[in-house]
Amino acid sequence: MAYPISISAQSERQVKDTKSIPFGKQPTEHMFISEYKDGQWQNSRIVPFAELTMSPFALCLHYGQTVFEGMKAFHTKDGRINIFRPDKHYDRFVKSLDRMCMPEVPKSLFMEALHQLVQLDGAWIPEEADGSLYIRPFMIASEERLGVKVADEYLFMIVATPAYQYYAKPLKVKVEDTYSRAADGGTGFAKCGGNYGGAFYPTQLAREAGYDQVIWTDSKTHELIEESGTMNLMFVINGTLVTPPLSGTILDGITRDSLLAIAKDKGLQMEVRPVNVHELKQALEAGQKIEAFGAGTAAVIAPIETIAIDGKEYTCYIAEDAMMYQLQKELYDIRHGNAPDNHNWNYII
Ligand SMILES: Cc1ncc(COP(=O)(O)O)c(C=O)c1O
Repeated sequence: MAYPISISAQSERQVKDTKSIPFGKQPTEHMFISEYKDGQWQNSRIVPFAELTMSPFALCLHYGQTVFEGMKAFHTKDGRINIFRPDKHYDRFVKSLDRMCMPEVPKSLFMEALHQLVQLDGAWIPEEADGSLYIRPFMIASEERLGVKVADEYLFMIVATPAYQYYAKPLKVKVEDTYSRAADGGTGFAKCGGNYGGAFYPTQLAREAGYDQVIWTDSKTHELIEESGTMNLMFVINGTLVTPPLSGTILDGITRDSLLAIAKDKGLQMEVRPVNVHELKQALEAGQKIEAFGAGTAAVIAPIETIAIDGKEYTCYIAEDAMMYQLQKELYDIRHGNAPDNHNWNYII
């Protein structure tokens, strides 16, 4: 089935220098919107970016039926535009929607909308080496109904914003041993709004104590490392790249998956296994050289310099020859067309 998309391109918003604008404040000129009604996606259109009108009774405002994705587009060295791994983002979107009882978006509609929007607003992709277009597909329950129920009506939208380096310096993080982001059987693996709302309070407490982020641990024992903010976590211990396995409580990060594949291609030692906080603490106490970093679409790789465990701070290895920078460069080169895309990750427009 074809899903026609109408395009009304007229917009007053001009491309401008966006480098100094904080992340997520500058929309591009257009947005995509489609309406789910009577069991069908309809009225799919690309229009100038504008505010939404919505009933205060809209279900998403009360019961959190919201799901989103975050992906990026880049300039390639031969002057084309590359959207990185949209297929895997689509698959994750569908998994999240399913968990939240929300209707699937047909892949053809998702891909066509993405393609058209990024093509139309491609001029907003910064030319700078650290520049990219951050693309946010999302769905919200729009049905006007105050009762607690699964909505019958939804909006699926895509918006975009120019992005640059996310963190200006290496991070200082704290291993969380009181609060939890997700529990077994919950929604941790889904990219739904509530996961983020619930994380604000503990993260705020950590900020007040001088940390950039918390490292989430499992909700039962607080001994197993999970993830951090909007990033999966990776370590280099004894020269081996180590990351916790996927579970119902962490997000199946596309950056994590890509870095693991790159490490495998390069023949680096790697282990996907539970990472115990005490193991980490012992190694750091013994003065071992440990790399710790976050991996996510927005930050790409975020080196962690200081990590607090049980109230004590330890220093991780962030020197130039660290493995994380090697992985980061490989990923950069694939995305920008400087290295072969052996896994078919690039969707070239
Ligand atoms: C909770 C959480 N974990 C991990 C990630 C990293 O995932 P990805 O690499 O797909 O951006 C994100 C960002 O999307 C996130 O929000």
